[in-house]
Parts: sequence; C-alpha cells; structure tokens
Amino acid sequence: MKDSWEKLYSECSSCRACPLCETRTNCVFGVGSKCSDILFVGEAPGDNEDKSGVPFVGRAGKLLDEYLCEVGICRDNVYITNILKCRPPKNRDPLPSEEDACIAYLERQIALLQPKLIVCLGRISAMRLISRNFKISREHGLWFDYNGIPITAVYHPALLLRDPRKKGEMLIDMQNIRKRIDEI
Ligand code: URA
Repeated sequence: MKDSWEKLYSECSSCRACPLCETRTNCVFGVGSKCSDILFVGEAPGDNEDKSGVPFVGRAGKLLDEYLCEVGICRDNVYITNILKCRPPKNRDPLPSEEDACIAYLERQIALLQPKLIVCLGRISAMRLISRNFKISREHGLWFDYNGIPITAVYHPALLLRDPRKKGEMLIDMQNIRKRIDEI
C-alpha cells in the first residue's frame, strides 16, 4: 500500500520497536512544511521535546531558530526531525540498536518529503546519514551525497551552547546553506 504522512505518523506514535517507548511522553515525529525542499535532521528529542512532542523547542532549538532567522530561513518553511523519535534517558547518545529500530521512520519521511537538500544537525546525524567515520570538526559545511540528495552537516546547536567559539563557523555554514537553497 502507498505510504502517507498520516500512516507513518500513526505507526511512529504507537511504535514499540525499542525500549525507549517505555519512557517516552511523546513520540517526536517532526515539524514544519511537508512540501519543503529542505530537511534538517537532529539527533534525538530532549526533555522539552519529549514533553511537547515537537523537535528543537528547548535551548538548542532556540539557538537553531536564531541561525535560521539570521540567514533568512523561516522555520515553518523547512522540515525538522531527528534520527530518533523518542528521548534517550538523561539525553545520552542514541544506541546503535535504537538507531536501527528507528531509522526506517526517517527513511520513509525522506521518501515522502523528497527534499532537495538535507542538513544534519550534529555528528550523530552525520555519522548515520553521511558516513560512519564522519568527523564534524573537519567535515562540517562540506557537501556529500545521500541517495542522490545533496547533504551537509553543521555543528549541533547544543554543542554551540557549550562551546560558543564555534559560532562563527556555524554562521558561515548556515550562510552557505542559504546560498545552496537559493540555487535550487
Ligand atoms: N537536540 C536534538 O538533536 N533534537 C531535538 O529535537 C532537540 C535537541
């Protein structure tokens, strides 16, 4: 049967494929425009996202919004989701088994959205979607290929909160992403 956003959301929100379903408040499916050409993919929901069911609404999300605004991208015009749809306890890194259990939801989101650009937010997303050996400090801002779709990675906004010295590089990467969008 043909896939649809409704079918996918319904399966995802009742998913019991890994133990994170036991501790989630909400499945954090994704937010934004389902006709967008641009997809942002973070790591996993945090506490605020688990409570609200919406990705990137906490401090890291606010910082992401500032960068989007700074380069003239409206949050409502892009689609934002995560590798994991449920929150790992104490915000620990996703386990490979959790990523394996969850990745089909993202793959189906990509198939439905058919984005023209994908932006990984942070190394976890880049290591899953670009290359297992991805080094965020060396390779952020470079362009790669994801099944025919141009893909890049930027620093995770939570990292920028911990290490503000990287904010200049983040702005340059976001400005370059903006230029790529203008060329679509
Ligand atoms: N960090 C992420 O990677 N995703 C969110 O949704 C929130 C914080």
